[in-house]
Amino acid sequence: MSRPGLKLLNTKLTRLLGIKTPLVLPPMAGAAGGELAGQVSSAGGFGFLSAGYGATPDEFKRQLSLARAALKTPPSGYPFPVGVGYLAWQLEAPQSPVIELISVALEHDVQAVWFSFGEDLGRWIQLVRENDARRGKKTIIFVQISTVKEALVAVNEWKVDCIVAQGVESGGHGANYASPLLNLLPSILSSLPPNGPPILAAGGLANGAHLASVLTLGAAGAVLGTRFLLAYESLYSHAQRRALVAASSDLSAWDHARETLGWPAGIDGRGLRNSTVEDFEKGIDIEILKSKFREGLKNQDTDRIIVWAGTGVGQMNQIQTAKSIVEELHQDCIDHLAAVAEICS
Ligand SMILES: Cc1cc2nc3c(=O)[nH]c(=O)nc-3n(C[C@H](O)[C@H](O)[C@H](O)COP(=O)(O)O)c2cc1C
Repeated sequence: MSRPGLKLLNTKLTRLLGIKTPLVLPPMAGAAGGELAGQVSSAGGFGFLSAGYGATPDEFKRQLSLARAALKTPPSGYPFPVGVGYLAWQLEAPQSPVIELISVALEHDVQAVWFSFGEDLGRWIQLVRENDARRGKKTIIFVQISTVKEALVAVNEWKVDCIVAQGVESGGHGANYASPLLNLLPSILSSLPPNGPPILAAGGLANGAHLASVLTLGAAGAVLGTRFLLAYESLYSHAQRRALVAASSDLSAWDHARETLGWPAGIDGRGLRNSTVEDFEKGIDIEILKSKFREGLKNQDTDRIIVWAGTGVGQMNQIQTAKSIVEELHQDCIDHLAAVAEICS
């Protein structure tokens, strides 16, 4: 963050990661690759890339090198201020090829890992810690959770370094049993000791005023997924980005249409409602839906393919670089915090 006169935001998260803006790009499968993650970190936030959905070790290494290129860091070693996110249910599948991608990330010295959506996140956290112990290193561990009970397990049993509280408003997959963020976040904060790990807010956040509001509630930072789908560096197609600019949101039938079943019970998806959803609700034969979906992929027909989006999407109206999003949110957050401080004076 080199702009003259820009104030710093100092939270538990910025101190933990050594960053300037308490803003995290989540590891969005199919959307957050190395370039986007690297650009977000380079701009002063912190970026995760996703290990989800069929990345081979070679492709995954290519994404890691794209992150290094965006960060202009040397091809190996520290510092490498990005993280990698894993869908734990994919790790838990028999003979999961994704497990190997944990060692690949750690060998590449990523600063952090992120686990979500599984039966036993503790098992993967343990794996990372054992690897760290062998190499004499410390990888920062994030977990994404959606209830107070899950937060207590993450803090008391797994002793994680950072918690992402995902409200029901979030884009992509999320717990259909989660509370709205405005209730979830204070409930988690009041259940944990003040000297616990940073708690981040995720779900439906779109701008710097939202970042300021979750900091005011007591979060140490915010996780914005959908907003970064609109960045030029996301893996989304331009047609998907344009659909987001024009959007409103809801529901998931797409896991059936694109055959990405296997998510744990209670995990649903939120994205732009389209003809795939409507046909699914009408009970149209699933083979027809799959075939139309495959056809839609060829020409990026956003009336057929998935465009994941959180409830904040209606407040996003511009396709930008990741850097300008981070900088805009930083300044906008400071302006809002300053305005609130005036109310108290
Ligand atoms: C396209 C997309 C893919 C996502 N993929 C993942 C994922 O692989 N792992 C994960 O933990 N969360 C994933 N999420 C959820 C994010 O971690 C985060 O909770 C969410 O984006 C926050 O809500 P927002 O999109 O309204 O900002 C995804 C979200 C989106 C929009």
